[in-house]
Formats: sequence, C-alpha cells, structure tokens
Amino acid sequence: MTEATYPVDMSVTPDVKAFFDPATNTISYVVKDPGSKACAVIDSVMGIDYAAGRITYDHADAMIDYIEQNGLKLEWLIETHVHADHLSAAPYIQSKLGGKLGIGDKITVVQDTFGKVFNEGTDFQRDGSQFDRLFQDGDTYEIGGLKAFAMYTPGHTPACMVHVIGDAAFVGDTLFMPDGGSARADFPGGDAATLYDSIQKVLSLPDSMRLFMCHDYGPNGRDIKWETTVGEEKAHNIHVGSGKTKEEFVKFRQERDAQLDMPKLIIPSLQVNMRAGKLPKEDKSGKRFLKVPVNGL
Ligand SMILES: [Fe+2]
Repeated sequence: MTEATYPVDMSVTPDVKAFFDPATNTISYVVKDPGSKACAVIDSVMGIDYAAGRITYDHADAMIDYIEQNGLKLEWLIETHVHADHLSAAPYIQSKLGGKLGIGDKITVVQDTFGKVFNEGTDFQRDGSQFDRLFQDGDTYEIGGLKAFAMYTPGHTPACMVHVIGDAAFVGDTLFMPDGGSARADFPGGDAATLYDSIQKVLSLPDSMRLFMCHDYGPNGRDIKWETTVGEEKAHNIHVGSGKTKEEFVKFRQERDAQLDMPKLIIPSLQVNMRAGKLPKEDKSGKRFLKVPVNGL
C-alpha cells in the first residue's frame, strides 16, 4: 500500500464536545470549526434494549439538542468504522439536521463479509452506496473553514479510519487511553500485526496532537476519560507504549483476544451499521426484524 501524505495542521484547535454513552461505553463527539458555526458529529449512538427489541434515541437527541441550542450547522456525520458494540444514530441525526455521512471506502469489504454472515439478499448493496462519502487514505474534507483528513488505520476492522481535524484526532478503536491499551483485532478482517502498524501511524503524528477515544471502560476503577495526546500514548500505552515491539504486541493481542467474549450488541450492531445505521427494510407486513445467525459468528 502506498502511504498517503497527511496535511497535518496543528495551528487550528477545533472545539470538541464529548457525549458519553454509559450503556456501551462509547464516546461520541461534536467537533466545531472555531471560525464558523459549522460542525461534525463523530460516531453517534442509537440506543437498543436488545432483550426487548426496542430502539431509543436519548443519546442522539442530546447531541441534536446541543447542536441546535448552539446554533450550529451540521456538515458531516463521520463513522470511524463499522462498530460491533453499538448502533450508529447517523441516519437519525442526519434526518433532523442534514449533513453528509462518511466512512472508509473499505466498508465494502465489511459489507461483503457480513452480507454473507447475515445471508442478505441482493437488495443489500455491498458497494458503500448507503453512505454519502467513502474516504480513501489521505482524503481531505472541510467542516466550514476547518480542514480535516482521513487516515487509513486497519487492524481492528478492515475499514477503520482515524479522522484528523486540526490538532485533534479521533482514533476510533485503534487505541484506547494509555491505561486501556488497544482494541481487539480478532473480528473478521481484523489483524493484530496490521493494527500495530496502524497504531504506529497514529503515534507518528505530532506529540501534542490531542487524541479522542471512541471507547473507555475506566480500567482499575478510575473515572471514564476520553482525551489524551500522542506523546502520552507513546510514553505510557500499556500495549504499544515505551517501545513495545510488533512481535510482543501481536503475541499479547492474540492471546488476549482468544479470551474475549463477543460484544453483547454485535449481532444488531453489525446488521444496522453495515447499512450506515439504518434498520433492515420493512417486510411485507410493514415490520422490521433483526436476524440472529445460529453459530454464524
Ligand atoms: Fe469497534
């Protein structure tokens, strides 16, 4: 793969407002251009009571309220990847506030894999056409006057992208806080060695780059946190910091991943998120259903 060149600009400091979802330990963000009212939403969350099959929008509504109360204009809805542990609320927010929905162009690989797992028919398009923009490595876009770019960071999934907006990078599931380490790399299309290489790309950004996590689980009982820096991760990340080698990382990651249970919401999350956050189409009776593949994951 040819490496893209990344137009890093540390002179711009966007306003970042975080929204923590305690049900899934996800952090969603509103990122605002300091020079205008333009903003982007990163990795929003739609609630689900899976046992009851009930969808809720409290978390997304809090973001919508914030955007409306501050008179902001939503220009982008960004997904760092196809999440396996929560459902995206991007189409819901988009239906209220507009904006373009973007994800990495390798979404097609994820759609192909899980289209088969869920035995989706031919009406499930596997070309990423459910999204408005498919980012390639190094692609740039604008949030008002803010310049942003996407950095291809596969390993956790094949479609992961880190989005860098001024001096702030939204790392998705490439990295956790220094005391949380890194995300698993054992989903279909995931790979620990590839994740290590992607993490090195993130750590090659300037030391003072702010990093915003997609998840935090408050290891060892500490309060939830979501912001750190490249310098902090390089020095202290328990999985990749202070010069840990690729071999050490891969061995550790593979052993750890073999012990992990499937995320509680993986089955509904994948079915919804591979459709850009839309629920499966209504059947003839006008009802929507999610499938559970028996021994399929
Ligand atoms: Fe993830």
